[in-house]
Order: sequence, then structure tokens, then C-alpha cells
Amino acid sequence: MCGIFGYCGKKKAAPFLVEGLRRLEYRGYDSFGIAVSNQGITVRKREGKISLGGADLARVKGTMGIGHTRWATHGVPNDQNAHPHLDCQGTIAVVHNGIIENYAALKRELQDRGHEFRSETDTEVIPHLIEEAFRGDLAAAVGEVIPRLEGSYALLVIAAGCTEMVAVRQKSPLVLGVGDRAFLAASDVTPILEHTERVIFLEDGDIATLSTRGIEIQHGGTGVERPVQRIDWSLAEVKKGGFPHYMQKEIYEQPEVFSLTTRALRGEETPAVLQGIRGVTLVACGTSFNAALLCRYLIEEYCGIPARVELASEFKYYTPPGDYLVVGVSQSGETADTLAAIEKARMHNHPTLAVTNVLGSTITRLADHTLYMRAGPEISVAATKSFIAELAVFFHLVDHLSEGALESSLSTGHLAIGEALLQDLSPAVDLCRDARSMFFVGRGPFYPLALEGALKMKEISYIHAEGYAAGEIKHGPFALLCPDTPVVALCPPGQAFPVMFSNIREMKARGTPMIVIGAEGNQDLQEVSDVFIPLPGGGLVSHVLASTALLQLLAYHTAVALGRDVDQPRNLAKSVTVE
Ligand code: M6R
Repeated sequence: MCGIFGYCGKKKAAPFLVEGLRRLEYRGYDSFGIAVSNQGITVRKREGKISLGGADLARVKGTMGIGHTRWATHGVPNDQNAHPHLDCQGTIAVVHNGIIENYAALKRELQDRGHEFRSETDTEVIPHLIEEAFRGDLAAAVGEVIPRLEGSYALLVIAAGCTEMVAVRQKSPLVLGVGDRAFLAASDVTPILEHTERVIFLEDGDIATLSTRGIEIQHGGTGVERPVQRIDWSLAEVKKGGFPHYMQKEIYEQPEVFSLTTRALRGEETPAVLQGIRGVTLVACGTSFNAALLCRYLIEEYCGIPARVELASEFKYYTPPGDYLVVGVSQSGETADTLAAIEKARMHNHPTLAVTNVLGSTITRLADHTLYMRAGPEISVAATKSFIAELAVFFHLVDHLSEGALESSLSTGHLAIGEALLQDLSPAVDLCRDARSMFFVGRGPFYPLALEGALKMKEISYIHAEGYAAGEIKHGPFALLCPDTPVVALCPPGQAFPVMFSNIREMKARGTPMIVIGAEGNQDLQEVSDVFIPLPGGGLVSHVLASTALLQLLAYHTAVALGRDVDQPRNLAKSVTVE
């Protein structure tokens, strides 16, 4: 939610800011702005996407600046509410990612003292507070203001006449880039990679001062050293590489992501937290939740370990049972609800494990142990390759805990994805593109896939889509079935096949257009389908992986056919850093 970027060096800052914000746009894209320090502070900001209308900002002069791309929380997306925000004099500029929970009280207090506000944002209290505290030392003024702010924030602050930029991290991600005579600050590493692979992950409560001389970090009033780490993501991975959309590129990267992740985990030691576990609670949101739900079926089936899955946003309302291991699953490692769930688990003395894609992300610092997926940077807002990577982690875990139940299928999983990616889905897309509403159904481990298929479809095509356990359809949703409500049914071979086949016939009997994903060569299934999509051979793992890729492609091509903004769907942001 929101991306912030700062540059401090010897070159003109504005082109760096524009490029950096373009790379961060997937975090929020309803408005943007920059502030550059020159004689005073020059601010340019407006509603819209920086990638579509921000090129002119690069002309602003000055060698130090901050920028922001917004996902609105307080106040509609418009020019006034766009960041940066200024103090009364227009000499202190702030960009912010997060929420200031006590802003209303602070704003009243500041207004009573004569401060004039120009926006509806929570952020604007910050430059006004700094204005009161500023006596020539910007870091000291920011340090004085921080204890007054409640909530989550990553901040970048500059002031006219100051040669330093101040960066603060408190429960919102912030990374510093250590370049060659240039220092950078950003919400994540993607815009930093073009300039340097050397980064510093700030800790909550850190106040960093960036200048052309270097970086100094204070914590609780004393200077601290934070390690400089090397990021092994490449610049090529954050570019589209000839694909029209990041989403398509990321879908096609999946065979490699699956192999990389399983291979890497095979070479790692088993986390101590997994030894002798009596039960598992998985907590996650969105796509990561769907992956966790699938994991639950496998853990209970193959390992005989009780497993629960909770939406991270609901976990705070439960008392976690017994001494279960709590596993937080999050591609970004920054999802606020998932972090809160892990914090709660820690408070209750549960052992914790993080499954994430991002080195140094907040979840890795909260959990007792981390298992990394190897998806590489995922830029499209719709999660695709990270879902496959999460499945790879779970398959590995289940294989480990069951002493080899899935072993043979892990080495061929990438082939199943690769085969699925070759399918022509245009007949299915033709059925979906005119629909106003759709259902996705499956049973057993294919029920979470039905949820994921529906999530992908609604998220990027804007067609209303619901995922259902096929057995539940007759308990209400059947009333909605009709000739303009297509159903995508996942019907691979296996235990659930006979009853799933009956369900498909029942839906078909109501005139419902049926898109069926099932085993290649199954004549009966083909006859009952309006569109039949064959699965390659193999067992459960192959069928899960291939079905996933098919559902992603179906959503992708439907969204493209409808002319949607595939990588940046309306109202969404990649990383949901507020609860
Ligand atoms: O980074 P996380 O895995 O914690 O993100 C969780 C969800 O916000 C995310 O999966 C979201 O549902 C995706 N946009 C779905 O495609």
C-alpha cells in the first residue's frame, strides 16, 4: 500500500524518483508526487498513475528528493491528497506509507495552534509537527515528533536548506540502498536493484539520516549499525522481458520457480520448529490463504498432523489452540494482518514459522524461522508464481513430514505446469468474457484451487466469480445457475471423481455452460462439457500444478479480452500493509 522512494546523491534526483516510483507503482497507483530540495522545496504531484503521466516531473532540478505513489486510505485520490505533504511554510516535505491512527486529535491540536491544512490525509500532521520541532537539525526534529505518532509508518522527510534526508521505519517496510556515491530509500528493493544490490533493512524504530557522505542510523537515541546485505534478485526479473504484461511473464516463469524452490529447500536443514509438532495453524490472506488451505488437506492426509487454516484478519478474534506451530504465509512478508497474527501467536508462546518470498521482510524478523520460496520479484498485483512457489514449499514440507509421500512427483512438477501453459484456452475465454457472474468448483485439494481460480478471475477481469466446494453448490448457490453463469469445474481423476462428475451433470441439467478441467481422454467428461480442458497425466501434485496454471491463464486471457488493466487492477495494491 503506497510506495515511497528517496534519492540522495550527486546527480539530478528527479529522474531517479520518477523511475523509482514507476517500479513501485504496483504498491498503489491512484496518485503520485515528488518533492526535490533545491533553493527551497519544489513539489509536483497529481492524481493518476506516474507511468501514464509523470514524465515531466523528471525536469525538476535538485540532487536530493523524495517521491510517493499512493493507495488512498484517508481522503479521495486527488491532487491535494497526493503526497508529498508540506508544513505551513512549504519548507518541510514528507512522504508516508502506513496510517497515523491518532491523526484526528493531532490535527485538531495543530489547527488550534494556527496550522493550516491543505489535504484530508492523516499524513499531513507530520510536516506540521516537524515544523514546530525544527531548530536546524532535521533528524533531531523528526526524533522529537516520532513518539507522538501512533500507527504504522515509513517516512521520508526533507527540508529546505538541509543536505540530509531523514528516513523512519515503524511497522511499515523501508529499505536503504547503498550505491556508489548515491544513497536510496524505498518501500521495497525493486526500484533499488537498478542502482545497487547492496541494501540495509531498517528495524522498527530506526531513524536513518542519508546524505552524500553516507548513512547514519539511530535507534532510541543512540547510533546503531545495521548490516549491509546483498540481494540476489536481478534487474531482468523486474522488467517485462518482452511480455505484454508482468502477469503473463510471471505465469510463464512458474516451471522454473517450482523447480528452483523445491531444489533450494532440499538443500536446506529442516527448521527446528518442525520437530515433533503436534499441530499446525496456517494464517494468511488472499492467494496465500488459498495455498495454505490446500496445504491443510495434504498435511492431514499424508502426515496425520492436525492442521487449521485461518484468515489472518480473523485470527485476532480466536484464541489459538494448544501448542500448535503457527505458520504465517505471505509472499511479500509485509501483509499487516498476517504480521499481526504472527505477533499474536508469539504473545501466546506458540512456535512460529514464516513462509515468504522476500528476504529481510518484516515477517522474517517476527517468526522463529523462515522458509523462503524462490519466486523472484512478483510485480503483477495478481499473485501467480508466488502461489506456485508456496505450493512448492508446502509439498516439500509435507514430503518431509511424511517421509517421502510426494517425493517422486516433486521432480516432475515443472513439466506438468509447462504442459498446461501450452494449452489454447480461447473457447473457454469466449464463454467467460460475456459473463456477469461465474462459479468455480472443486472438491478436496481442488476446492482451494476453485477459490484461487475465482479470486484471479474477479480480481483482474472484474467478472463476479465465486469459488465453492462442489458439495456446497446445492445448498443455495444452485438458485443462481442459469445459461449466462458459466461454471468452471475441476474434475481430475481421484477419490472425488465420481461425485464430482455427478455434480457436473446436475449443473449441466440446469442449462449452465460448463468449462471442465479433467483427465485427457475422458470421454464422459468431454460429453458433458461445453468446453473441456485436458489435464496432463500424473498424480495429485501434477494435477494441482497444471490446474493452477490453467486457471491463471483463463483469468489472464479473459481480462485481456475485456481490455482490463491486468497488472494493476482497479482499487487494489500489491502489498496490503494496513489492517
Ligand atoms: O503478500 P501476501 O501473500 O501476504 O499477500 C496476500 C494477498 O494480499 C494477496 O495474495 C492478494 O490476494 C493477491 N492480490 C491475489 O492475487
